[in-house]
Amino acid sequence: MTDPGGAPLPSLDDLDVAGRRVLVRCDLNVPLEDGRITDDLRVRASVPTLKALLDRGALLAVCSHLGRPKGKVVESLRLAPVGARLAELLGSNVTALDAITGEQVEAACASDDPILLLENLRFDPGEEANDPAFSGALAGLADAYVDDAFGAVHRSHASVVGVPERFEDKAAGLLLAEEVGVLARLLHSPDKPFVAVLGGAKVSDKLGVLDNLIDRVDALCIGGAMAFTLLKARGQSVGRSLVEEDRIGEVGQVLEAAGSKKIEVLLPRDVVAAASPDGDADYATVMLEDIGDRMGVDIGPQTARRFAEVITTARTVLWNGPMGIFEIEPFAAGTRAVAQALAQATDAGAFTVAGGGDSAAALAELGLAGAISHLSTGGGASLEFLEGKDLPGVAALRRTTT
Ligand code: 3PG
Repeated sequence: MTDPGGAPLPSLDDLDVAGRRVLVRCDLNVPLEDGRITDDLRVRASVPTLKALLDRGALLAVCSHLGRPKGKVVESLRLAPVGARLAELLGSNVTALDAITGEQVEAACASDDPILLLENLRFDPGEEANDPAFSGALAGLADAYVDDAFGAVHRSHASVVGVPERFEDKAAGLLLAEEVGVLARLLHSPDKPFVAVLGGAKVSDKLGVLDNLIDRVDALCIGGAMAFTLLKARGQSVGRSLVEEDRIGEVGQVLEAAGSKKIEVLLPRDVVAAASPDGDADYATVMLEDIGDRMGVDIGPQTARRFAEVITTARTVLWNGPMGIFEIEPFAAGTRAVAQALAQATDAGAFTVAGGGDSAAALAELGLAGAISHLSTGGGASLEFLEGKDLPGVAALRRTTT
C-alpha cells in the first residue's frame, strides 16, 4: 500500500508487540449530545486494529483527542463515555484514565492492565503545539507506536508527528492503511469512468481538491452552495445564493482547465429556492434562470436525475459534501438522491467512496452506510489527501528516527 508520498507505510504485521505496551493513536473524536455518542463510526472503525494487537499479546495505551478543548480540561469532553462504548465493542474492560501523562499514567502503563485509555490529548496544550516535552512524556509510556487516527493525520500535533518521530518500532494501523490505500487508488489507479461528486457550502474548501482531481476524473457533479460560485463564474444568475466573490477568478480557471481537458462539469440546472435558509420561509423548485431574489438551498429533481445517471454509469465514484441544507427536511432530497445513486453504483460493481461528516450522516440516515465500498472516517484529512498533500502524520510514520 502506498500513498502520495510514494513509499509504503510500516505495517502492523512487521511490528513485534507481544508483551509490549503499544501506544495506539486513534481518532475517537465522535459527536456527543449530553454525554451520549450520537455516531460511533470512528469507535467501531478503531476496533479491528485494537483487536489485532490484543490477539498478538500487546498491552494497549489508547489515546485520542475529542473536540477542541484548547489545552484545558473541559468536563464534557472527557473520553470516559467513549471508553465505555469501546469496552462494549471490544467485549473487554477498558480502564479510562483521567490524565494523559504523569506518575499515575506511568504506573498504569507499567502494569499488566491490557487496555488503558488515556485522557483527551487536547486537554494538554502540548498536543496541538507539538511540544517536544509532551511528545517525550507520551512516547515514554510505551515500547511501540501505532497510528490508526486517519481523521487526524493532517494535524501536525504531538501524538501524530512528535511521538512517532521518537519510535523505531511503529506502524500504521489497519484503518489508516485502508484509508490511505483507498484514497491513493482514487488518485493513482481509478477504474474509468471516474466521477467526483462534490458539495458543501464553500468552494474555497474544495478548490485544492478540484485542482488535483481535474487531471484524473472524467466528470464532476457539483452541488451544494459551492455550485453557485461556479455558476456565477459561468455568468449565470444565482439570485441571493451564497457566492464566494473572491474565488470567482480561481473557479473560472478550474472551469477553463476542465473545458480544455474535455471533462464534463455538471452544475445545477434546477434548484430548490427559498427566501431564507432556515426552513421557515416558502420554497419552490425552479429552473435556475427563474431563481429571482431567492437563494438555492438544494439541487432540484432534474439535476438530481442527471447526477444519478452519471454516477450509476461510472466505475469509480468519489462523493464529498451535501447537495443542499440536508439537515432541513425539505432541502434534503438532492443529497438523498446522490446517496442512493452511490449505493446503486456499488451494486452494479463500481468502486464508491464517500468522505466528510455530512455525506456519512446522509448515508447513515438512509441506512446506506454499509452499501458503498468505503466510507472514510476522515473529513479534513481525506480532503487534504485528495489535494495530493503528503500528510504530516503519514510522513512521520515513514521517517526513521535520528
Ligand atoms: C475530525 O473530526 O475531522 C478529526 O477528528 C480532526 O479534528 P479537528 O478538525 O478538530 O482537528
